[in-house]
Amino acid sequence: MIPFGDPSASYQVHKSEIDQAIKRVLDSGRYVLGNEVEEFEKEFASFHGKDLHAIGVANGTDAIALCLRGIGLGIGDEVITPSHTAVATVAGIEQAGCTPVFADIDPKTRCITPKSIDERVTTKTRAIMPVHIYGQPAEMHSILEVAKAHNLSLIEDCSQAHGAEIQGQKVGTFADMSAYSSYPTKNLGGTGDGGVILCRSKEFAEKIKSLRQYGWNEARESIIPGFNSRLDELQAAILRVKLQHLADDNAKRRAIALSYNEAFKDLPITLPVLANTELHAMHLYVIECDRRNELMEYLRNNQIGASLHYPLAVHQHIAYAQRIRGGDNLPVTDLFYQNNLTLPMYPELSKDSIEHIISIVQKWFREEN
Ligand SMILES: Cc1ncc(COP(=O)(O)O)c(C=O)c1O
Repeated sequence: MIPFGDPSASYQVHKSEIDQAIKRVLDSGRYVLGNEVEEFEKEFASFHGKDLHAIGVANGTDAIALCLRGIGLGIGDEVITPSHTAVATVAGIEQAGCTPVFADIDPKTRCITPKSIDERVTTKTRAIMPVHIYGQPAEMHSILEVAKAHNLSLIEDCSQAHGAEIQGQKVGTFADMSAYSSYPTKNLGGTGDGGVILCRSKEFAEKIKSLRQYGWNEARESIIPGFNSRLDELQAAILRVKLQHLADDNAKRRAIALSYNEAFKDLPITLPVLANTELHAMHLYVIECDRRNELMEYLRNNQIGASLHYPLAVHQHIAYAQRIRGGDNLPVTDLFYQNNLTLPMYPELSKDSIEHIISIVQKWFREEN
């Protein structure tokens, strides 16, 4: 079976560098929040631009919650976000004590729209959290305007979009702060859980560093109530290796997406758009088509690990159904969830596999439609 993503292929390709990094950590005797984390934070910040700060945390959900806590949001504060995202986005908002509110998406980008955000703003709204879903940048310039017009904080959920750009500017640098996951399947993925917060303000970075470790100051005195959300040295050392290959790996993903798009352009399916003015991080390659369950079954019968991202929008899960404002008015999201289908996408996907996937998809449309 060709999987839809393959973290072990990434390890095999970068094995000698990763093995060296692991050995370096094991020999060092320092296993949590040490030199590797510090170096990774510096490298991650400078990968994104000048005068930025990065803080390693335990996972991407914590990164979201810590951003919100860091700016002082909590109970009663509404955060507008899409329902078309990983459950983690909403779990992170609720972990901070905030109230998520759902806005709808654009059918082309599949990202939250500025108009839908604007329609959901109330006197309780405090923040907007766009998600660069599948690696596709959200419309950050217009979203920034909505945030300014209503005096709202903006936090980018970049967990699926490490290295994506809009007109040469990396996502994660449009807002004052942004949250990343480095779960193994991500474009920048470790071999366990991990997350990062990127921000502009040094003071905010210091506050997050304190919050991630019991609210401690340098003397290990808790000056604010905090958490345990530390990044470990092994993950940081591995992420340092992976970061060096991120731009190349993303380019490989885009090349595969362009091959798929070219091969499928005359089929009755909706394809991801790769705009000239943007760099899509192509975390997942997701198409939309009628009879997607039949196509998925056919692909699986032909050893292609097609899958659903996601089987349900967040407002369709039992835990969230009917209790989140905006969830009853998401027509574009609802339609998308009837038709979406994910095809294999990772930098190490072989030419033979790509050709196999293309030929089987084409064959199904020839024979079944
Ligand atoms: C869009 C999005 N936000 C947040 C997260 C949370 O990341 P984690 O699984 O590291 O908590 C993920 C990863 O699953 C994600 O895809």
